[in-house]
Amino acid sequence: IEISPFIADLPKAELHMHLEGSLEPETLIRLAGRNGLKLPYADAEAVRRAYSFDSLQSFLDLFYLGLTVLQTGRDFYDMTAAYLARAARENVRHAEVFLSPQAHVRRGIPIAEVMDNVLAALADAGVRFGMSSGLIVVIQRQFDESDALDMIAAVKPWRDRIVGLGMGGPELGNPPSKFTRAYDVGRCDCGWHTMAHAGEEGGADYVRDALHTLKCERIDHGVRCETDPDLVRELAERGIPLTVCPMSNCMLNVFPDMASHNIRRLHEAGLCITVNSDDPSYFGGYINANFAAIQASLGLADKDLWQMARNGFTSAFISEEQRRIYL
Ligand code: ADE
Ligand code: ZN
Repeated sequence: IEISPFIADLPKAELHMHLEGSLEPETLIRLAGRNGLKLPYADAEAVRRAYSFDSLQSFLDLFYLGLTVLQTGRDFYDMTAAYLARAARENVRHAEVFLSPQAHVRRGIPIAEVMDNVLAALADAGVRFGMSSGLIVVIQRQFDESDALDMIAAVKPWRDRIVGLGMGGPELGNPPSKFTRAYDVGRCDCGWHTMAHAGEEGGADYVRDALHTLKCERIDHGVRCETDPDLVRELAERGIPLTVCPMSNCMLNVFPDMASHNIRRLHEAGLCITVNSDDPSYFGGYINANFAAIQASLGLADKDLWQMARNGFTSAFISEEQRRIYL
């Protein structure tokens, strides 16, 4: 897809990007080699061929397999640095990135190796690219709430360098209300901002649950809110941001194609919509490709894309001084 100069030059904030979903096929192969691991793929092309999904679960299976190449602290540093370098080239000025600590700790990777190296890469990108960033730890919702509480306790030594708590993984059957206590601990004991994946495969009731039971400040995806007009009104009135990921939604059959995506309707309904890449390596495009795709298929004007990019900065978890610099 062609990236217009307007999109390329637009200053952007990316708020929904899983670090583990930024591992490019070439990197998977290289890290597997470096760590002496066997993957069921001969080369990067074979990895790419495997990226054809029919549902969230079919993607998650490959996502959890791919991240097993991450073994050493250096792997976590390199993965984070590679995403930030790419984001800087796409004129991302502020990035809030998701990390799924449970997926690593369960494989026996020491939590300090993960946290220290991801945080070091974020700090270095600040110096090298003049980019600001935030780290969000993400609960894996297929596990129990006690596992989520263990994860929060494990990262608590870094709590002042973590900006928020999120939740990902298979949505259906794992409603936000399963994690009420974990979110209370994150918000009250750790002082974190809160968000959750909701309304991607789950319905509007999951978005309501994230908003009212977990008291989330942002909703990740949230596109299925549309079936509940009262909820859409509440999201608009309260200015609750949705971090929408258009290419992800098409790849995972949330919508059959980009022309059917509801991002334009949600934007025109007055919601605070941001545009993000989710898992850019798996879904075929970084943030600029996501902006270009919605413009090409939905006929959005440059001023609409400008508003969505601006929404990224108004929705970011940054100080008001920092926000004034970006706006
Ligand atoms: N983990 C990584 N990407 C995800 C997504 N789009 N939905 C739920 N969990 C995820
Ligand atoms: Zn996501």
